Amino acid sequence: MSYKYIAPIKPLTTGSIKLLLIIASPCINGNLLVCTLKCFKMLIVSILKSSVKNNPEINMYLTLLALHSLVRWFVLASLLFAIFWAYRGWLFKKPFRAFDDRVRHITATIAHVQLVLGLWLYFISPVVSYFVHHFSEAVHERQIRFFGMEHVTMMLTGIIIITIGSVKAKRKTTDQEKFKTMAIWFSIALLVILSSIPWSFSPLISRPNFRPF
Ligand code: HEM
Repeated sequence: MSYKYIAPIKPLTTGSIKLLLIIASPCINGNLLVCTLKCFKMLIVSILKSSVKNNPEINMYLTLLALHSLVRWFVLASLLFAIFWAYRGWLFKKPFRAFDDRVRHITATIAHVQLVLGLWLYFISPVVSYFVHHFSEAVHERQIRFFGMEHVTMMLTGIIIITIGSVKAKRKTTDQEKFKTMAIWFSIALLVILSSIPWSFSPLISRPNFRPF
């Protein structure tokens, strides 16, 4: 993080003094080390929070990150529905109507919106920036390498598969072929995407399921 992100230390407010007193309570029990560490942590958090609030670049990064995190649920929901709909149409030999075509089109569009957000994020992310500028060390750090390389490659692959599937389905001449193409290509894309989401429960790369704006 560059020097310009460090904001001047603000005077303590009544709220933070109260918080300090609560945190300082372990001192009464004689646990001075715990107390010092907690106070130190609180000070760092408060300095970082105020610097984030005052910095438009970080604000934009955090907003974009929260948006990208949220849109992931739209990508997954639309893909799941499109796959269910395509298998239903294929297996039960339904006619391919305008609604089915809309499902195909909307699913691909949501994936493209996520692609744009992801690309934008890629160029402003401090994690990626660290990866690019310290490649030889960063490539050995799992968290950094994941966002700098693996996540992007897999997600681009997933979105390309959705796009190809969508275009191919559109060009097919029979209704059953349209449903079948959608079902197969979208299913493969879903597996690729699912494998590269930093799930909150993942022991390897974990990020929150919902990030506040
Ligand atoms: C279907 C496609 C995608 C899904 C579902 C997805 C999902 C996610 C999720 C859940 C996160 C974690 C957000 C958080 O920390 O709260 C993330 C982070 C990120 N994604 Fe994606 N993503 C997709 C495509 C892409 C693409 C195509 C790119 C770039 C070309 C990209 C670049 C990034 C970057 C740079 C980060 C975060 C780096 C940081 O922490 O600074 N994503 N993505």
